[in-house]
Amino acid sequence: MINFDFNSYIDINKNDYKKYLAKKEEIINKLNTSNMNGWLNDVDNSQIKKIIEYKDYIKNNSDLLVVIGIGGSYLPSYAFNKALLNYFKNDFEVIYVGYSLSSNYMNDLLEYIKDRKIIINVISKSGNTLETSITYDILNNFMIKKYGEEETINRTIITTDKNNGLLREKVNKYNYKSLIIPNNIGGRYSFLTPAHLLVLSLNYDINKIIKGYQKGLELIDSAFNYAINRRCLFDKGKYIENFCIFDEKLLPFVEFLKQLFGESEGKNRKGIFPTSSLYSRDLHSLGQFIQDGNNIIFETYIYINNNSLFKYKNTDLDSINNIVLDSVIKAHYDGGVTSNIIKIDNLNEESISMLISYFMLSAAFSAYLFDIEPFDQPGVEIYKKNIKENLKI
Ligand code: PA5
Repeated sequence: MINFDFNSYIDINKNDYKKYLAKKEEIINKLNTSNMNGWLNDVDNSQIKKIIEYKDYIKNNSDLLVVIGIGGSYLPSYAFNKALLNYFKNDFEVIYVGYSLSSNYMNDLLEYIKDRKIIINVISKSGNTLETSITYDILNNFMIKKYGEEETINRTIITTDKNNGLLREKVNKYNYKSLIIPNNIGGRYSFLTPAHLLVLSLNYDINKIIKGYQKGLELIDSAFNYAINRRCLFDKGKYIENFCIFDEKLLPFVEFLKQLFGESEGKNRKGIFPTSSLYSRDLHSLGQFIQDGNNIIFETYIYINNNSLFKYKNTDLDSINNIVLDSVIKAHYDGGVTSNIIKIDNLNEESISMLISYFMLSAAFSAYLFDIEPFDQPGVEIYKKNIKENLKI
């Protein structure tokens, strides 16, 4: 069960709200007719069959999956995994790499995996993202030394576009195991595609993921309401949205939200800048600014109701955390900082998938309310082009 409270701590002028509500039909129509709305559809059954086949192959032939990707090609499943896995032990181990070019990380990683039974899954829709390509090259060479060329091909799964890009060419030439990212779905909207479902199938029930995702897509009214709130707050000079969490498990999830809203909406010098805080940690750092500094921030709380999971004296940690939550929301409200509140009763496959598709809808609606095209990222392409010009290897 997920509870959305977009009223108690939000002050929005009714006429402003109505002005944006009047655009609802037009915006829903824009989304329904967009050529990048494949994420509203069901997953392709032939791909689900392959995912299950590859999942069994991975489990029978390795004890570690190394996932290579960046942006929308890693964050959705990374966020999901980190939210649900035990803090200190994994079931089937998955390691993500490629989202930075840290030589420290690479050294430590290669040392850690040298004696493990590895399979790699390289994920890139375009097939030519620099960080992914370099990381794949390093891992591929490492695998060839460890297993030889033929076995490295057996132990590599490539997830990419159906027809285009260097990775697809490689699949066609050497007959790699491969999965498809549909061409009508962009990276940050690709949660319910093989880009993420293969990785998640190792530790979770895909059917529950699909069910939760579909439930999130049904929350059109609530997602639109949230998008209007954001738009009205922007008009009042609230240019920053702070996604606040109380459990470190959600840190990668808010990283995903930063990507989703940042890349969908931040264009043409418009949009709300998304940031995040882990409370109580950041109440003892950024909390001062939020309470008392330049009043350009609003907050969106994502709170897990753990229901007495950990007893403490005559109460439990969750009840105390709830008191912290109420106290900070009230204090910030008195300081002029308004808040949206989302409370999740159980953190599980269904609820996290539901939140993911819910936020995707909200991000698309929000971008349209700014008259922005949600599904491209022209700014990112500029830096990618600069790299190509500067890199000589
Ligand atoms: O959301 C997006 O579209 C981007 O963040 C991409 O996922 C990211 O740039 C990686 O691209 P690719 O999958 O082509 O390697």
